[in-house]
Amino acid sequence: ILFVCLGNICRSPLAEAIFNHKLKNQGLEKRIMSDSVGTSNYHVGEKPDSRTIKIAEEYGVPIDHKGKQFKKNDVEIFDYIIAMDSCNFRNIVRKSGGESKKMMLLRNFDYKDRGKAVPDPWYGGAEEFENVYQIINRSLDEFILFLRKKHTL
Ligand code: 4NP
Repeated sequence: ILFVCLGNICRSPLAEAIFNHKLKNQGLEKRIMSDSVGTSNYHVGEKPDSRTIKIAEEYGVPIDHKGKQFKKNDVEIFDYIIAMDSCNFRNIVRKSGGESKKMMLLRNFDYKDRGKAVPDPWYGGAEEFENVYQIINRSLDEFILFLRKKHTL
């Protein structure tokens, strides 16, 4: 599974960390692997934003990632490319030369406000990061149920 946002320091590394934590809790960590990237190169090589690390730690979610940029061939490597918003969805379509069934919006799995964006918290404060955490956490529960059903895990 590849999670995608813009900078790869706020939303997608948090999604990757929460997802991996849930996989471990459910004994699925050897069946599924995940990573995260940004569509921009703004923060390549950087640790997640300090506010991302803080919210992950508050919820006891281990987080360890270095910023990377989306590459065209990621579409071949990963089975699911999960974008945080439609802008980044369009960017991965464009960068990989066309839309694929593998590409989805994370919030297609959110029963509240299905299909909306995971809002960019970059200009926000702790409240925005808390909101992003809740959205991602909720969406990932449904996404994992979808994966379990679809792949009989
Ligand atoms: P992310 O948040 O896409 O969730 O990692 C952002 C991080 C950095 C910037 C924008 C959004 N930026 O403009 O540098």
